[in-house]
Amino acid sequence: MAGPAPSERAEELRALISHHDERYHLLDSPEITDAEYDALKRELVTIETEHPELATVDSPTLAVGAAPSGLFTEVRHEVPMMSLDNAQTEAELRSWADRLVRLAPELELATLRFSCEPKVDGVAMSLTYAGGRFVQAATRGNGVVGEDVTDNVATVPSVPETVAAEAAPFPERLLIRGEIYMPTAAFAGLNERQLAAGAKVFANPRNSAAGSLRQKDPKVTAARPLAFWAYQLGGGEPEPGVGEGADGWAPATQTDALAQLRRGGFPVSPDATTVVGIDAVVTRCRELEEHRHDLPYEIDGVVVKVDDLDLHRRLGQTSRAPRWAIAFKFAPEERATRLLDIEVSIGRTGRATPFARLAPVFVGGSTVQLATLHNEDQVALKNVRPNDMVLVRKAGDVIPEVVGPMLDHPDAPKRRRGPWKFPTVCPSCGGPLVRLPGESDTYCTNIDCPAQRIQRIVHFAARAGMDIEGMGEQRVVQLVRAGLIDDPSDLYRLEAPVLVALEGMGELSAANLLGAIEASKRQPLSRLLVALGIRHVGPTVARALATGFSTLDDLRSASQEALAAVEGVGAVIADSVVGFLANPANQLVLDRLVAAGLNTEQPWAAGAGAPAAPDQTLSGRSVVVTGTLDGYTREEAEAAIVARGGKAPGSVSKSTFAIVVGASPGTAKLTRAERLGVPIVDGDGFDRLLATGELPDA
Ligand code: IVH
Repeated sequence: MAGPAPSERAEELRALISHHDERYHLLDSPEITDAEYDALKRELVTIETEHPELATVDSPTLAVGAAPSGLFTEVRHEVPMMSLDNAQTEAELRSWADRLVRLAPELELATLRFSCEPKVDGVAMSLTYAGGRFVQAATRGNGVVGEDVTDNVATVPSVPETVAAEAAPFPERLLIRGEIYMPTAAFAGLNERQLAAGAKVFANPRNSAAGSLRQKDPKVTAARPLAFWAYQLGGGEPEPGVGEGADGWAPATQTDALAQLRRGGFPVSPDATTVVGIDAVVTRCRELEEHRHDLPYEIDGVVVKVDDLDLHRRLGQTSRAPRWAIAFKFAPEERATRLLDIEVSIGRTGRATPFARLAPVFVGGSTVQLATLHNEDQVALKNVRPNDMVLVRKAGDVIPEVVGPMLDHPDAPKRRRGPWKFPTVCPSCGGPLVRLPGESDTYCTNIDCPAQRIQRIVHFAARAGMDIEGMGEQRVVQLVRAGLIDDPSDLYRLEAPVLVALEGMGELSAANLLGAIEASKRQPLSRLLVALGIRHVGPTVARALATGFSTLDDLRSASQEALAAVEGVGAVIADSVVGFLANPANQLVLDRLVAAGLNTEQPWAAGAGAPAAPDQTLSGRSVVVTGTLDGYTREEAEAAIVARGGKAPGSVSKSTFAIVVGASPGTAKLTRAERLGVPIVDGDGFDRLLATGELPDA
């Protein structure tokens, strides 16, 4: 069946878009994600381009934002506040640049200068200064008429009351455009306080900035951690508001304009850069996309502007947006999808964790189908129910999260199901699930629960533990189901003939698996301690214990007091270790592991109770590790740096002493290191660096 006629679809799209405009701009309560909204707009633009006869004068493709809400006085902008066209791909970015050359044929894209500015996700604001004093702040509104939010904006600390004297003389009237935003950390803090007070929790920093400005009482706004970035002098194009004549305030380039704004005391993003040539623009966009989460504020793209302001006047604008600028938009990190079901998984300690099974959705660079919901209270707090449309967020490397239901989403169920109830029996063993009073977690208390047993073995073989390659969850499940293993020590009794008989296992993979199991016997004691899954014993504590006692025997015979005396251990951890070692089932597993020939010592440990401090060769230096190094896990490499007085941060900066690069390193870190001229060290160089603090000769 054919779809609707283009004219019908265009009409439908116009209705949808103006509806969602209203939800977003007037009610601060969008029903669909930005990406979905953009898709509607693009579809309409495509229809109107292919069928120009269908374009209407009042089409939302020509409009900017929405009409005022009536909550504040209306302000007619002296210079209209324009919107920007979007580019979602590198190709679209380049075709924007090609269009510039078609309009001004003498331009050379390889030598043209551009200002690349982070596209801060906040609320666009027009500030007016008269005689150097702040007199008015207005929202964009529909671009022609906005709302007067002067009293609220006056409470924002980074909006200066007066233009700095250094920047005098200034024109009688000065128009400054910028963005009111909420820094990411401040946003998290605000939401914590809102939650504690039982008040509304905001979905993201942009919504919370918008909500904070849309307050009748400026005291409420004043209590919100808002900030301001200035990004435009004058209203854009043309610039009658700037006041010609005053030299500094009639700059020749956008770069100079930003510099002048800084001199005038206006905060300008330090991440705005001027680059030469369209290739450099593309590089800068990629760079900002890769580092978007390293910035202390949220950005959803890069605004690319032709630097030469004379060219702005020549290139001009369409009815809604200037031709001299474009917004390069990053891939969305928030998407709507269907919550198919809520299930619980049982961890190695028996903890029952609810998680969301989602209709697959591509978000934040990968396809997401599962997201944790943490515990019973979180499910209730988020108020998500099976069959809801939910907002899924995946920012950078962060694990995917269900933000909440989208009750007004067009695909949301007409009638919701009832609140989800935590199951009362374990999905694995059928035993009771227990939540103790005062605790947030629910547990399966059956120690023989197959799910727990499986997870204990998975944890044992995992990277931070014995690091047995090929022994992931699926493999462990297969081996347990086949009755071949029951606890971690059984791994060391596996033999080739039984493995080869398993489905999907050839001679070669069996041999590889046995090789990996054999190799794991040589892991240091600290890794064995992590692998055992003792409560509170992670890599750092395990290292402290292993270096403190050097051998498993000494550790097993240590008293609670001796354990607690180790630096970084303390009474709670010591109790947990003693409890674990006193358990007969654990003792049996340990005896079997020892009998299987596992290494039970910690290399370089100095002897019981006296951990040796290595020479402080890296005192005060920061060394970043990326990729896998021979002989070290990432944690071990970082621990070795810290043990020598150094720091091992997760990202490269100007003050990084060296970057240690193993196999398959992170490209972001490596590129940044190269750009900043940070010395690069390989695995051999690392050993020397640890021993002497010296860098290998270049
Ligand atoms: S220039 C005519 N520069 O992005 C000039 N906009 O549609 C238009 N934004 O909501 C704006 N950072 O508030 C410009 N460095 C920047 C920006 C920026 C964020 C926002 C702007 C508007 C949207 C553009």
